[in-house]
Amino acid sequence: MNKNLRDAAQTATVPALIARPATTTTSDWKQALPVLTGSMVTLRELRLSDATSLLTMLSTEEVARFISPPPTTVEGFERFIAWTHRERAAGNYACFAVVPHGMDTAIGIFQIRQLEPGFGTAEWGFAVGSAFWGTGVFMDGARMVIDFAFDTIQTHRLEARAAILNGRGNGALRKIGAMQEGILRKSFLRNGEYLDQALWTILDEDWKQQRVIWGVRVH
Ligand SMILES: CC(C)(COP(=O)(O)OP(=O)(O)OC[C@H]1O[C@@H](n2cnc3c(N)ncnc32)[C@H](O)[C@@H]1OP(=O)(O)O)[C@@H](O)C(=O)NCCC(=O)NCCS
Repeated sequence: MNKNLRDAAQTATVPALIARPATTTTSDWKQALPVLTGSMVTLRELRLSDATSLLTMLSTEEVARFISPPPTTVEGFERFIAWTHRERAAGNYACFAVVPHGMDTAIGIFQIRQLEPGFGTAEWGFAVGSAFWGTGVFMDGARMVIDFAFDTIQTHRLEARAAILNGRGNGALRKIGAMQEGILRKSFLRNGEYLDQALWTILDEDWKQQRVIWGVRVH
């Protein structure tokens, strides 16, 4: 995961039965990403002013351990943020900043990139500052990003890859309802070592079914 972050450098449980607040969406996401409002966080386009906060949040050892190396400077994150805007405008990719209610700057990101033209199959990835782990921020943001993938960009199959050693990453994907399809053997080079990754997927029909179970609106 977070291949895009690497490329540019040159990424408390919410009770399942609580319905999410309405989100603001726009179909023209290539012009500008919609602002998505959840119960704990807002997801919005990254801003250059998020660079310092993202450097603080995502460059720690515990966050970066199982993802492609994030930028190591504010300027590196600024380049990454500018790149996310270009890729969004080109219709290849979307990157949301995670902003907890009451804050102004990003404490993490959710990314989606197309694996085939038109986003029929897409891959998502995420990283959140460790101070916010286990707070429910991931689940709140993840539900909105997955809704965005299936409802706005019309993805059919959403993939995620997580290093087997990444307990939290795999636990988070299991919790959001992804299905583990298999193991991608020695598929991720990290610190000079090839790591096995789990391949997790969510299909659009699975997600719509899950929303029925959660008691959330269905399209
Ligand atoms: C991945 C990430 C966004 C998830 O956010 P989070 O707030 O930690 O996730 P949550 O706490 O909501 O969910 C993680 C789940 O995994 C569980 N978990 C934690 N450690 C685990 C382990 N070693 N093995 C199995 N499950 C584990 C947690 O208990 C939790 O489940 P629960 O809420 O049912 O108890 C965050 O951990 C992160 O940014 N990690 C670093 C970047 C990264 O690895 N990204 C993912 C790449 S695929």
